[in-house]
Amino acid sequence: MLTYAGAQARHILPTVAGRIPQHFIDELIARADIVELIGSRVPLKKAGKEFKACCPFHGEKTPSFHVVPDKQFYHCFGCGVHGTAITFLMDHDHLSFVEAVEDLAARVGLEVPREEQPGARQAPPTDALFALLDKTAELYRRALMDSERAKDYFKARGLTGETAAKFSLGYAPDAWDYVLQQFGASEAERLKLLQVGLVIERERKTGVHPGYYDRFRDRVMFPIRDARGRTIGFGGRVLDKGEPKYLNSPETELFHKGRELYGLYEARQASRTLTRLLIVEGYMDVVRLHQAGITYAVATLGTATTPEHLSRVFRICNELIFCFDGDRAGRAAAWRALENSLGQVREGRQLRFLLLPDGHDPDSLVGEEGREAFEKRLATQAIPLSEYFIAHLRSQVDIDTVDGRARFGELAKPLLERIPAGIYRELLGDEIAKVVRLDPRRLAAALKTGTPHSGPASPAGERKPAPPPVKKPAAGGRRNLVRQAVQLLVHYPGIADKVSDLTALRALDRPGIPLIVQLVEELHDQPCDKTAVLLERWRGRPDVEHLEKLALMPLYIEDQAGAAQELLGALERLLKEDETQRQYQDLLTRHKRAGAADGENAEIEPPGRN
Ligand code: GTP
Ligand code: MN
Repeated sequence: MLTYAGAQARHILPTVAGRIPQHFIDELIARADIVELIGSRVPLKKAGKEFKACCPFHGEKTPSFHVVPDKQFYHCFGCGVHGTAITFLMDHDHLSFVEAVEDLAARVGLEVPREEQPGARQAPPTDALFALLDKTAELYRRALMDSERAKDYFKARGLTGETAAKFSLGYAPDAWDYVLQQFGASEAERLKLLQVGLVIERERKTGVHPGYYDRFRDRVMFPIRDARGRTIGFGGRVLDKGEPKYLNSPETELFHKGRELYGLYEARQASRTLTRLLIVEGYMDVVRLHQAGITYAVATLGTATTPEHLSRVFRICNELIFCFDGDRAGRAAAWRALENSLGQVREGRQLRFLLLPDGHDPDSLVGEEGREAFEKRLATQAIPLSEYFIAHLRSQVDIDTVDGRARFGELAKPLLERIPAGIYRELLGDEIAKVVRLDPRRLAAALKTGTPHSGPASPAGERKPAPPPVKKPAAGGRRNLVRQAVQLLVHYPGIADKVSDLTALRALDRPGIPLIVQLVEELHDQPCDKTAVLLERWRGRPDVEHLEKLALMPLYIEDQAGAAQELLGALERLLKEDETQRQYQDLLTRHKRAGAADGENAEIEPPGRN
């Protein structure tokens, strides 16, 4: 029943760099002082057993950011960010997981151990890889100086030398071994090049350098930098015609396309206090916009905007404008961006969409009309997410018919559900109600029932309202017990050792039971008594969000002994309820078979809720 291979998952960073053993992460979290860590970056005020501050991840005037020393955990009730000391460093200081671990370890004076991986190639430390990428960017930059053809290309596209310098633009000469010649003297060096995606491994037969060849050849080069300004990858464009037009570094240990934004480092350099970001599609768009003075432009790296991109962006500022080409592809990309944004939508955040006239992209437009006119477009033509949401769905249906409006509701429902509950969702719901010409309250009810077929605002408006959903006996109670058990374990991981026998529990076929079993088993294997340690172990696993949510919900139990008692009680009731349920089913079957034998009638009552 356990679908998760816990032993494997406990190893972080399954790359060639050598794994950081989970026991070390446990120790690190247990030793780190989250109050001191966060306090060193954000002024904290004591409030009872907790500490409070104005949230560093969103603008606010009254503090809703809480740090809980007992759990070594933080949470903002305003914007919902939360996590452990490691999460804080990742989000606040824009570090990768490994960097955050290293940083934290240095703070508490621990050395990060790495596990040997038998058979794996010995990996150079990350610092060496960053250095290699930086050196290569410099190499390409100098090659640009030496190539009239490449310089002419950028000039023809309207770029100044200053802009080229600011973005460290470069040129990869037309050779199979340009980078290899410079930085690939030994096999160890060549392996590093391979690891950062600068060379490609060739079939071992012939070649100048048997084994590898340069990935980027005869392309103008755009170095991609991380939040700290270190080069993590490249985009390279052909100078003339050729395929592919743009070639990007592959995903590597240092470079994750779904996370990075081209130009973000430069945008932050241009202004320490960014209030808005403009997300565009291309490298050239970013460079050209910056040159025109719009230094808050960034681009995704040839991928759709991911929720991860957005959560990064919203940690920096509260206003985001998507700007896409006006063609079909641009419109499709805009809608996809909207879909991926819904989970990030909430009051206090502004998300808008600007679709450019067909045939234009930001690069060509800003070149033609300049900064002022372009910013005027942003101010007057960028439409809010809610408006775009409705306009797009409207364009898909015939809103003047009942069927069309029902279809509109059906399309809107799953999207609306992705928006976190709150004022924003309510307001958008109201807008949708107007479009489908339904009383907002009736729409809300229709949307909530979620009956599989009749659809949300379906003809409900004109016909009879959907019947209330049918509840199965005791379902709510059981789910509460399961949740309670998990919550107790998350708040007090130390109580797992009070559960001595899992056999009966394992036999229960109920949602949530496998998670309880898994928690208890893993805590038997490796006991810990801190919430944050447990959550860190679950990083990246499917249930982590659920566990985090439960960690945040208050539990009115003050001590571990009380929690242990509660847990045993909850598990006992779960088992008993299951037993009662089975007896009830048995009885029902017998009753039916016997044709309502009088004597047993009184007993047939569904088992009580809990
Ligand atoms: P220019 O022609 O230089 O102005 O580029 P553009 O940005 O206007 O081109 P386009 O709209 O075609 O591409 C937008 C972005 O998509 C680029 O910046 C790349 O990140 C990505 N992209 C475009 N073409 C390719 C390709 O052939 N392969 C890959 N991997 N990405 C591409
Ligand atoms: Mn373009």
